[in-house]
Amino acid sequence: MILKHIFLSNFRNFTQADFSFNPHLTLIIGENARGKTSLLEALFASVYGTGFRETREVELIKWDMDETLIESVFDEGQDMLFQIRMQKSSETTVRKSYYVNKTTKSSNQYRSMQMQAVLFAPEQIQIITGSPSRRRRYFDDVIAAVDRDYKKKIRYFENALRRRNKILENYEDELNLIDELKFWNNYLIEHGSYISKKRKEYIEYLNSHPSINGKNFSIDYLQDEFTLERLEKIKQREYRLRRTLIGPQKDDFIFNLDAPQEKNVSLFGSRSEQRMAVFWLKLNELSYFEELSKMKPLLLLDDIFSELDEHNRELVMSLIREYQTIATTTEEEVQTLAHVPEEVIHL
Ligand SMILES: Nc1ncnc2c1ncn2[C@@H]1O[C@H](COP(=O)(O)OP(=O)(O)OP(=O)(O)O)[C@@H](O)[C@H]1O
Ligand SMILES: [Mg+2]
Repeated sequence: MILKHIFLSNFRNFTQADFSFNPHLTLIIGENARGKTSLLEALFASVYGTGFRETREVELIKWDMDETLIESVFDEGQDMLFQIRMQKSSETTVRKSYYVNKTTKSSNQYRSMQMQAVLFAPEQIQIITGSPSRRRRYFDDVIAAVDRDYKKKIRYFENALRRRNKILENYEDELNLIDELKFWNNYLIEHGSYISKKRKEYIEYLNSHPSINGKNFSIDYLQDEFTLERLEKIKQREYRLRRTLIGPQKDDFIFNLDAPQEKNVSLFGSRSEQRMAVFWLKLNELSYFEELSKMKPLLLLDDIFSELDEHNRELVMSLIREYQTIATTTEEEVQTLAHVPEEVIHL
């Protein structure tokens, strides 16, 4: 599938805007705050139905407006029109409607007809340096992009966890408590084991593709399983502290680099080694999506050129030659580096 065109109405700082894309490379060049990242975010949203910076989706709608429309045209042998309308339903929430070729779809139907996109942005170094929840969110997004059940299971799990914590917080009688927890324990085991299994599978995929630029990365999956045996062992502590103490909501992932000497990249990696680890993740994200969907994902690069050393620059250029790429930059000189047909959008 090739992205051809996007039309935006009241999306972030764009009132009405219209952009066409080259099947190989499109460079978006502009000064700060012109809307470069917003345009990438719109592309991401037209693929996944959500942006990548917002805390609340309502932030995607232009200030003081009530709705935004994101329309994109993809070529899949013939043109396909994808439309998402987000309407404010309160100050903090939106209602979303999806259409493909002017026919209403559910979000799942829409996703099943759309392609994958991979975003690569400097702030993603937080996957390595940030909190465990940032890492879990990253892996959850990758897995959910190809497994629609996964997202549902995460939501069920989180809701059930909140219910279980409420029960622990408010209980008065231990016998009643044991009875009340039974249902939620089984429910959490069912969904939690699916989440753990999928995370484990993806980490195994990454560990079987460790190499980049002659360096080998690996990940230790610190799996915090939610099982009856473990619950039994810690139950007195849970009753005393009045909250759930185990489960995949506490999973973490340790990134290792093997050379010159094996080390934990989050704790001991240099800035460029940490950047390389993100790069390794992104390369694998591309190949994972491509293997599963048998379709080349769209590559979205946000302002990554300034931070790249010579070696990584070459790697990025090889990706640009392989995947349809939309890249933002403030530097005009990037234009000549990739040696592929390109379109330039000046914002
Ligand atoms: N919902 C919104 N409505 C209107 N304007 C918004 C909204 N959200 C963000 N903006 C503004 O849109 C402008 C463009 O932001 P964006 O992050 O896309 O810029 P950019 O070109 O990527 O800049 P930089 O080079 O600094 O990364 C900013 O001034 C931002 O404050
Ligand atoms: Mg930006």
